[in-house]
Amino acid sequence: MKTYLVTGGAGFIGSNFVIYMLGKYDDVRIINVDKLTYAGNLENLKLVESNPRYRFVQADICDAQAMARIFEEETVDYVVNFAAESHVDRSISDPEVFVRTNVLGTVNLLNTAKKAWQTGDGKVDSYREGVKFLQVSTDEVYGSLGETGFFMETTPLDPHSPYSSSKASADLFVKAYADTYKFPVNITRCSNNYGPFQFPEKLIPLMINNTLSHKQLPVYGDGMQIRDWLYVEDHCKAIDMVIRGGRPGEVYNVGGHNERPNVFIVHTILEYIRDHVDATVGEHMIQHVEDRKGHDRRYGIDPEKIKNELGWYPETPFEKGIVKTIEWYLANRAWMENVTSGDYQKYYEKMYASRA
Ligand code: NAD
Ligand code: DAU
Repeated sequence: MKTYLVTGGAGFIGSNFVIYMLGKYDDVRIINVDKLTYAGNLENLKLVESNPRYRFVQADICDAQAMARIFEEETVDYVVNFAAESHVDRSISDPEVFVRTNVLGTVNLLNTAKKAWQTGDGKVDSYREGVKFLQVSTDEVYGSLGETGFFMETTPLDPHSPYSSSKASADLFVKAYADTYKFPVNITRCSNNYGPFQFPEKLIPLMINNTLSHKQLPVYGDGMQIRDWLYVEDHCKAIDMVIRGGRPGEVYNVGGHNERPNVFIVHTILEYIRDHVDATVGEHMIQHVEDRKGHDRRYGIDPEKIKNELGWYPETPFEKGIVKTIEWYLANRAWMENVTSGDYQKYYEKMYASRA
């Protein structure tokens, strides 16, 4: 039995990962540590909450004592660090919390795992056999592409937003622990995920929700910014493969050669809902609003390294993944209603009123 300490497992990708791993393996135990910020939602984990191989701990990754306690109580083999403040727009209006969780939280986890896994008298850097710390990072650390080329693992870090700067800082600390203390790490840098349980501050669930609610569809600037969309289950599979087979100290980019301009995404959602749910929705709902500050124009990943070394490839074509995603939101309207009640309304007004 291998024990995974998954942080941020009540968020979008983390909850998909917990469900994926417990469904795929009988010999995996998962400790999910999540602070339950606005983005954390235990409803995502209903499917696994009574699984005897699953445990939830509500805690902050910045809390050194709480993290140490978990390592005392459990024999952790792998740390998978998803926990983060993840939304670029929020980072532009409130950067500090991104430094706290994404940078200090990651360093705290590195320290805790390093102490717990250290063997011998501590004078030589050696660790229990088979342990690994996987940092879930993002392609945004590479900055923005022009019309051609792709992000490679060797592309220099050039983050622009407070969010991506905090993620790049965390990556550098993870690398520093590998270089300085020979600490066993991997970093994965993934492109934009989509799928079930994504909080509707992000483009795809926001557009689905607004279309179904007959609200305007706020497209930033000209809407021709490009993102490389990856179905979340394919990302979960990549993380699983990197934990099991990734070479110590290596970075792996995860993306699908699936670049689409934002307006294409919005039109795809509109057309599906118009054809299958509500014939009254349409392009008249699109509103071009003030652009995001420092908006990265294009992301595109070259996933050759993870394909060649580990055999990973993105299995879900966008045309299938987007339909699965829209249908999931249609079948789970109560989930959407729950997450958009209360504070979400205030967030939406604050974020979008000034843009109109
Ligand atoms: P999310 O915002 O949906 O979830 C983040 C989770 O972390 C939430 O459950 C939240 O409660 C928890 N959390 C936040 N601060 C915490 C703290 N201090 N202590 C413990 N838990 C805390 O994020 P997501 O979209 O699922 O992203 C997960 C990870 O993947 C992040 O590290 C993000 O940078 C990275 N990533 C995301 C994408 C994407 O497209 N969503 C792409 C590439 C990389
Ligand atoms: O590339 C990976 C990153 O993808 C992750 O590291 C981040 O955690 C994740 O949030 C995501 O960042 P983006 O900024 O690319 O995602 P978001 O869904 O916020 O926006 C996608 C694109 O859509 C971006 O160009 C901004 C635009 N957009 C977004 C929203 C919310 C709009 O035009 N209107 C909107 O209302």
